[in-house]
Amino acid sequence: MAENIIYCYSGSGHCLGMAKTIAKILGDTDIVMMRSFPAITDASQAKRVGFIFSCFAGGLPGDVENYVKSIHIAPGAYKFAVEQYAGYLGCGLRKIDDIVHLDYWDGISNHSTAIWLMPHALTIPPTTPKMAQERIDRKAKEIGAAVRLGQRSEKRPPKEAAFELMSKSLSKSHAKRIKTFAASDACIGCGTCEKVCPRNNIRLVGGKPSFGENCIGCLSCVQLCPKAAIDIGKVTKKRQRYPNKQISPAELTEKVIHID
Ligand SMILES: Cc1cc2nc3c(=O)[nH]c(=O)nc-3n(C[C@H](O)[C@H](O)[C@H](O)COP(=O)(O)O)c2cc1C
Repeated sequence: MAENIIYCYSGSGHCLGMAKTIAKILGDTDIVMMRSFPAITDASQAKRVGFIFSCFAGGLPGDVENYVKSIHIAPGAYKFAVEQYAGYLGCGLRKIDDIVHLDYWDGISNHSTAIWLMPHALTIPPTTPKMAQERIDRKAKEIGAAVRLGQRSEKRPPKEAAFELMSKSLSKSHAKRIKTFAASDACIGCGTCEKVCPRNNIRLVGGKPSFGENCIGCLSCVQLCPKAAIDIGKVTKKRQRYPNKQISPAELTEKVIHID
């Protein structure tokens, strides 16, 4: 078993890109993806256990909360978490802290991948995609160094009741949007959407994606389609996609990525 385990949830790859950078600094790390039930839940031999994930609707994405509850961590292990968000941190870090009692946590604003809701450049401070990536890379290096040194955060992550409520109402509006996913004429039937869907919710029928009822709204299909051919109603027709360039769609679907 690797010395370090990072549990990662990533929709369009930004958190996975960051997890890879931090893993390279730590060495001997298994990045265990949490897009479906994690392949490794026994982390009891790991010296450091990390969680890197994106803010979804002010909270944790998909089933991450339940997944984290299933992980076994040694009492003396060092536990850290990093959350990416566009405009606000939300309550995801606090939820993880409630379960595993973090030693160290941090958050960083990145471009919004929730493109049905807002233009992607909703960052604090405003940035271009290149600037945002450079900032994420700098932050990942700082966090990697802090984790190696075993730094500890002075406070717990913020607990904001408003985010809990927002998370619930956004999840409802998101559920409605999910029903409006459709492929445009730009679709070439390459099947990337089918492969990157963490829920096996997309099937190619007659060379075009058909969407089932098991979507969690991660937007991987929307963000990673090489032709930007999947839309959410009319809202995303003119919106730029924002996938991460440091990862491949195939990598995103791995269960475990080992970094020496
Ligand atoms: C479905 C969805 C919901 C999101 N909700 C929020 C949100 O409530 N607040 C926020 O600041 N960012 C939100 N974001 C933005 C992501 O947290 C941010 O873009 C992150 O960098 C995405 O990382 P990933 O590509 O690894 O998933 C949302 C993104 C998606 C796709």
